[in-house]
Amino acid sequence: MVDVQADPLESLRKRTSEKWVSYPPDVLPLFVAEMDYPLAPVIAEALIDRVRASDTGYVAGPLPAGEAFAGFAERRWGWVVDPERVRTTTDVSVGIVESLRRAIQPGDGIVINPPVYPPFFDLVREAGGALVEVPLLDDGNEYGLDLDGIERAFVGGARAILICNPQNPVGHVHPRSQLAALAELAARYDVTVVSDEIHSLLTHSTATFTPFLSVSDAAREQGVAVTSASKAFNLAGVKCALMVAASDRSLALLDGMSVEVGWRTSILGLHASVAALTHGDDWLDGTIAAIEASNALLAGLLAQHLPEVGYRPPSASYLGWLDFSALGWSDDPSIRALAAKVALNAGPSFGTQGGGFARLNFACAPDVLTEAVTRLAQAARR
Ligand SMILES: Cc1ncc(COP(=O)(O)O)c(C=O)c1O
Repeated sequence: MVDVQADPLESLRKRTSEKWVSYPPDVLPLFVAEMDYPLAPVIAEALIDRVRASDTGYVAGPLPAGEAFAGFAERRWGWVVDPERVRTTTDVSVGIVESLRRAIQPGDGIVINPPVYPPFFDLVREAGGALVEVPLLDDGNEYGLDLDGIERAFVGGARAILICNPQNPVGHVHPRSQLAALAELAARYDVTVVSDEIHSLLTHSTATFTPFLSVSDAAREQGVAVTSASKAFNLAGVKCALMVAASDRSLALLDGMSVEVGWRTSILGLHASVAALTHGDDWLDGTIAAIEASNALLAGLLAQHLPEVGYRPPSASYLGWLDFSALGWSDDPSIRALAAKVALNAGPSFGTQGGGFARLNFACAPDVLTEAVTRLAQAARR
């Protein structure tokens, strides 16, 4: 396995991405979902190779990415994907909006399950839908989809549901049984399921990711998966995402989109994604190992220095959902955190369930994480 380590802060501060230009240098940026690890060499080489060849025109079609993703899905999850049923687009957000737009009539209800990735609220509106919130269930130990609440929303006329598997920000990997039950409900009420699986490539070794389209015929009939190599390989800026269908019905939904949706894929993004999905397994395993180590470090640091903060370590990806309510840091603890020179994401932006919470990105070096928790702990004692 490759030993993946975060770049030092001096090099990171030379990056021009949102993470590194939004705050002054005395702030540790642990907010937006970008990782501090370097690009996998195999991806860097693919990009440099295409740039050297001046190969920066329009994409010719989705097939290379479809083939690369089908290989990846079979190796990693035993999921058989037909490359001919994969389409590309600019990014996962665009894939979600365009899928939802095709699935509903303007004004129809679209279900989301907060706390969830904040742009979901906007993507539903951008697709012309009306938000129907059915919050995640949380018994204090386990999260879960509220299938009864979802059924009530379907009975009430919602025409689509946008799920997040694994769920950002809580890092919950939805179990097969719940996904299968959701697919049955979707079939019964003829609802389209759009499954955002962008974090699935970063499922930890302690958990098993189940692709929605692999659970049943009902799921294949009702569902579309939208995913990307971008979270796992830090490729958000090169713009390529995959929309996957597994039935004639869902393929018709993808192919009913305007052709521009596919043309807006970046050719550099396509080549980077093909390289990642074809040759990136070792690097990905190293990245997951680094993330798991960071997850354990964060849990230990919080237990030692900030025991008032509630933390249930995620089973996928690198986002920690921290409950500051016992500290009384108001509805939005990221304000106090920023005063302590640590930039976190505001919990309430993930839905009202996020009051008292903040999200911390721990895909960083151990010393950065240690310093961040130290600063937060000092602020708590002040
Ligand atoms: C659940 C989820 N979906 C979508 C995105 C955005 O993906 P993209 O940049 O491909 O639109 C993110 C980014 O963090 C995310 O966490």
